[in-house]
Amino acid sequence: MISSFAHCKEQLEDGNLAILPTETVYGLAANGINTVAVKKIFSLKGRPTTNPVILHVSNINEASKYAFIDEKAEKLAEHFWPGPLTLLLQKKEIVPDIATAGLSTVGIRSPSNDVFRKMLTALDFPLAAPSANPSNQTSPTSASQVLEMFGESCPPVLDDGPTELGIESTILNLSSKKLSILRPGHISAASIEKCLEQPVSTKELHEENSHLKKSPGTSKVHYAPKTPAILHASIKDCLEYKNITSNDLIIIHSSNDIERFNKIPCKTVALSRDGDLHEIARSLFGKLHDADKLNFNQFHLCLNELQDELAYAINDRIRRACAKNS
Ligand code: TXA
Ligand code: MG
Repeated sequence: MISSFAHCKEQLEDGNLAILPTETVYGLAANGINTVAVKKIFSLKGRPTTNPVILHVSNINEASKYAFIDEKAEKLAEHFWPGPLTLLLQKKEIVPDIATAGLSTVGIRSPSNDVFRKMLTALDFPLAAPSANPSNQTSPTSASQVLEMFGESCPPVLDDGPTELGIESTILNLSSKKLSILRPGHISAASIEKCLEQPVSTKELHEENSHLKKSPGTSKVHYAPKTPAILHASIKDCLEYKNITSNDLIIIHSSNDIERFNKIPCKTVALSRDGDLHEIARSLFGKLHDADKLNFNQFHLCLNELQDELAYAINDRIRRACAKNS
């Protein structure tokens, strides 16, 4: 049910769930230092308790109540918060094991969405909030997607329109000497390197086994639509693919490329008008969600061919959407 700020606040204060907008995706929020409340997140999402959740705070001072803040974390927060950067830090005792899946680290970020920030200011606890989707489905970028995904059991939703960025925050592991990105997002490795004057590795993203241990929820099958999705390395590869049937949907990045598919007898949809990466990131999950309702046999998704870190983050989500079939 779409709900008011006051009602959502009351629910959160009572140890219940509420769905709140962030600048990335909608989050399923609960009191992050209340074990019973955090457990409700896991049970509603059907999320394995081995997959930790992120704590959301208003600023670095608040973060220091829940994690040990070093100079690097301070610098990054000053530069990138509020915004889509999650820092993995050594946790303090007060953070319950359920939130961190028993790990010694906690993921913390300060979101920039005004409504979410207003909620954090009104409460005297941090908000644990994973993306507001049942486990293994795509993250929601609008209130209607949330309502459709959870149906009758949907907690109150604070609607703030479509989210600004559309893909989840960058996750940076600050808990070991060698800094690494566990999930790519709008904040690039290059911009973090520039801020800290230190190299940041993206290698673990490519080493499935090693990053699985560090970030359980970044497993390959994640963010997946229900319709089977075939991954193509490029538009050219997709055009040359022989097994496209008339009830398939081809999802491409730019409507400028639609006419290249004229000879293929199936529907084609574009994620942006002219290939703008911000627009693609914003529309990706919503387009997958909408197309998933239309009973296509399968989707065809092409990787973005631009050499750009946001393209890299988009490709990460596209690979995951197709992971069931690879
Ligand atoms: O943009 C976002 O980050 C959104 C909005 C709602 O803030 N949240 C989000 O949360 O995407 P979630 O739970 O869907 O994804 C968080 C990821 C999971 O893959 C989880 O495994 C990883 O962060 N994570 C959280 N805490 C961790 C920790 N202590 N160590 C390793 N990975 C962690
Ligand atoms: Mg998620």
